[in-house]
Order: sequence, then C-alpha cells, then structure tokens
Amino acid sequence: MENTAKKRILSGIKPTGELTLGSYIGAIKNWVSLQDEYDCLYMLADMHSITVRHDPAVLRRRTLEQLAQYIACGLDPEKNILFIQSHIPAHAELAWVLNCYTMVGELNRMTQFKEKSAKHTENINAGLYDYPVLMASDILLYNADLVPVGEDQKQHVELCRDIAARFNGIYGDVFKIPEPFIPKLGARIMSLDDPASKMSKSEESNGSVLLMDEPNIIKAKFRRAVTDSETCVRYDPENKKGVSNLMTIYSVCTGYTYEQIENDFSGKGYGEFKTAVGDAVVETLRPIREEAKRLLADKAYLNSVITKGAENAGRIAYRMLSKVYKKVGFYRP
Ligand code: TRP
Repeated sequence: MENTAKKRILSGIKPTGELTLGSYIGAIKNWVSLQDEYDCLYMLADMHSITVRHDPAVLRRRTLEQLAQYIACGLDPEKNILFIQSHIPAHAELAWVLNCYTMVGELNRMTQFKEKSAKHTENINAGLYDYPVLMASDILLYNADLVPVGEDQKQHVELCRDIAARFNGIYGDVFKIPEPFIPKLGARIMSLDDPASKMSKSEESNGSVLLMDEPNIIKAKFRRAVTDSETCVRYDPENKKGVSNLMTIYSVCTGYTYEQIENDFSGKGYGEFKTAVGDAVVETLRPIREEAKRLLADKAYLNSVITKGAENAGRIAYRMLSKVYKKVGFYRP
C-alpha cells in the first residue's frame, strides 16, 4: 500500500451528525476519484468529535455507520487505508509535542474556535482550543502531500504548515509541508432551506439530505427547497443561490453541464426542475444507501477493515512519532 512514487493524501470527517449529500459531493466523491492516482488515508476523526458534548452510544454507532458509508460511496478498503483516529495513539502523542511548537496567539486566531466557543459558551474546553493541533498531527504523522478539505478547514491546514515549518526550522526536515487541496466542482453544497449556509451534518433539518434518507423523504425535501421569485433555471450563484445550488447537485448527479440544464428547463417551472433534481438524487443515493445497509449487517467484515486499517496506519504513524521523539531528545535505551 505504501508506494513512494505516488503522492500521499490524508483527510477525515468527524463521526458527529449523519453524513449528508453535501459530505458525499463535497468530500467523499472526490476522495473516490483520487484513490487510484494517490496513496490515500481516510480517517474517522472520532477524537475530534468529543470537543463538544456528545452521546457516547451515538458516537460509537455513528463511527461504524460512517465507515460503512465510506465504503458504500466507493472508497475501496483495498486501495485506501481507512482507519479510526483513536485506534492510533500516536495522534494524541504527536499532538502533545506539537502543542509545544504552537503559539497561543495562533490558536486564538482560529475562526472555527471563535465560532464554536461563541456557540457553546458553557463548554469552551481546552480540546476545542487544541483541535487544530490534533488535526496537524493527523496530517504530519503520515507525511501527507495533499489534504482535501472544504473552505472552512483551510485555515487549519495553513496552521499545520506553519507548525511543521517551525519544527523543521529547529530540527531539520522532519515533516513534509502539506498543501490544502480544495476541489473545484461541488466543493460546497448548500442547505436546501437556507442556500446561504453550508449543508451541515449536524443540522438534521429539512435543509440537509442525509445519505441514508429514504426516497420519499429526499423527494419531499427537494420539493420544499428554497428558490427565488424568478421562474428561470439559470446558474447565478451570486443572485440565485438556491437554484444554483440545485443545479450543482443536478449536474453532479447526472453529468449534465449547467448550459444543458438551462436549455432543458427553459420555459419550465421550478416545480418540474425540483422534481427532476430530487429524482436524480434518489438514484444517486440509492445504491449507496443499499450497500451501506448491507455492510452494516456484516459487522465482522467492517471490523476486519478497521483492524487492517489500524495496522497499516499505525505502522506509518509510529515511524514518524519515533523520529520526532528522537529529534526532541526523548531518551530511549
Ligand atoms: N476538522 C475536519 C473537519 O471538521 C476533520 C479532520 C480532522 C481532518 N482531522 C483531519 C480533515 C485531518 C483533514 C485532515 O472537517
């Protein structure tokens, strides 16, 4: 699996909230398209999940479901290393070292920390503050060249680069400096009921389509999608956010270009367009939902993927951790 000729990719999603159509189009679908060309590791970031209060039983269940969904979306466990973050203690161990090379001023500037601490005023814990350092260790442990993330995580990848460069400045070339990798199309699928904000996994509202939603639910959600008072299917993400978002979704699900979509629906109402988008999404998600259900019934298989992922990821991670420990002067007999 380790192939030095290929560039390495690492990314992950926290198993908080249900995966959505936005997670699929914005992240996982792109990961699938990278699996042949790159040497990829995809993580379930369960340690990042506990920075806000959560239900342990739900976290446990969602972790397994998310793994099944990764595979059902097309991530092949034979081609990628799929693993659970907490199975590799090196993430926490490297995070401690990196903490000592991260400035409090840098963490104070993190937008996500500022937003989350404003939202959870009763629980501004040190883990929430330290979140980007754990994320830096996720990336640096594996010598990742590229880190596919959404816009909202770019600042964290930039901080990771700064930490790595600072460490390298002191100890020589220990870490590879990673690049954020932001996919062009469909990087950001917006909420169906509020097209100005991202389709989030935590919001289980009408605005998010879940990967596991049944067809009738999906169709109803699209019928209710917010559009505008014009009746013209036209791509204009500035002025027609709702319609443009639906066009992006439709384009990804059918392969049609925006121009084709505009032509096909010229003179037709939004009702017809929304029905077509809903139907296309139903067909895109159907095989994923069915395969995820089938996999979830085969826990022995999922557990074997997890065990193998932990072995393969652990091997890479511990090589890096021991290099770092040596560099900083931790004594080893
Ligand atoms: N913080 C990321 C998010 O919320 C998830 C994540 C954790 C991640 N560790 C990572 C993404 C390492 C890329 C690389 O989406």
